[in-house]
Amino acid sequence: MQIPFHKPYITDDEVGQVLDTVRSGWLTMGPKTFLFEREFSRYTNAPHSVAVSSGTAALHLALRAIGLRPGDEVIVPTMTFTATAEVVCYFDALPVLADIESDTGNIDASGIERLITPRTRAVIPVHYGGQPCDMDAILETARRKSIYVIEDAAHCPPAFYKGRPVGAIGDMTCFSFYATKPLAAGEGGMVTTANEEWAERIRILRLHGISRDAWKRYSTGGSWYYEVEEAGYKYNMTDIQAALGISQLRKLDSMREMRKRIADRYTEAFSGTDALTPLDTRPDRSSSCHLYVLRIDPDAHDIDRAGFIEELGRRGIGTSVHFIPLHRHPFYRNSFGYDAADFPGAERFYERVISLPIYPGMTDEETDYVIESIKDVSSKHRK
Ligand SMILES: Cc1ncc(COP(=O)(O)O)c(C=O)c1O
Repeated sequence: MQIPFHKPYITDDEVGQVLDTVRSGWLTMGPKTFLFEREFSRYTNAPHSVAVSSGTAALHLALRAIGLRPGDEVIVPTMTFTATAEVVCYFDALPVLADIESDTGNIDASGIERLITPRTRAVIPVHYGGQPCDMDAILETARRKSIYVIEDAAHCPPAFYKGRPVGAIGDMTCFSFYATKPLAAGEGGMVTTANEEWAERIRILRLHGISRDAWKRYSTGGSWYYEVEEAGYKYNMTDIQAALGISQLRKLDSMREMRKRIADRYTEAFSGTDALTPLDTRPDRSSSCHLYVLRIDPDAHDIDRAGFIEELGRRGIGTSVHFIPLHRHPFYRNSFGYDAADFPGAERFYERVISLPIYPGMTDEETDYVIESIKDVSSKHRK
């Protein structure tokens, strides 16, 4: 059996929406993008949604909106993709890496306060795998210390914290619609916020810093006249991406249900095995189930995690690792002098974790094959 790590879930809905867009004659940012923004706001309860070209662009523009400056500091968990911290470097600002909870992969909210200095402007919690971080604790610290909370929700939606949808919790929330994400548009991103001024600034910055209606300057009824207000970026979404986004958004809940069913099957199979442990889930949160991460006890086996990955690959199963912590990468180590000894939670987590296949359309038979294969590799290599 061949089971890839990920397969996109594209049906006739997406094909129909894309065809409709291509035939409409309007390919780049326009009516579909704005419809996607409105529907996204409805789903997340966020007053403003601004669509952009990627999750990285969303994070970059969120930091532009708060006016980040050279020498400022932004707290970022070390267990994330480089995009979360790289955008801080765009400003010649300092990404201050924070350790994580080794049972969930999320930033350790209790460790944030001691990283705050007079130069700290924001914290970017990453909802690892789609399970929201401890937002009450993070917001309480941030409000007391007057720093912003910009959520990296690349692994959401749909995710909920104490019943509230991720997207309407922190100061700004940044989503990714990259091909493997729970809402996949190939590429794309969204910033949500309740702050109208920030939303407006991001709308202008995403299209070269030119005045708001510039997108329709080539349409009949649009004006040829525009003004450049500041140096912006080419970060707009296209209507083709938005067409994919709209159809994925409309089935977000059913796709989540399909992933949840797989996650539950994995959790049931691995609970009670002492050498294999699912990540912990907090009862007051609902995860998008974007990733299913299993912890493999390195002391219980005669092979390490890389050995597990190889053995599963030989059985036709694609897996991945989320993530190689940022402090281990040469760029962050050499530029900022990070040391693994300062991140015991992330080190413990990184040594153990393996991400298993989980996507809508994956069958029970395929899920069971993954479970049996992992149990088989584990028992063959038990010390
Ligand atoms: C946690 C996290 N943040 C940000 C990003 C960046 O998103 P994008 O690829 O849409 O730029 C990713 C993408 O993989 C991610 O996993």
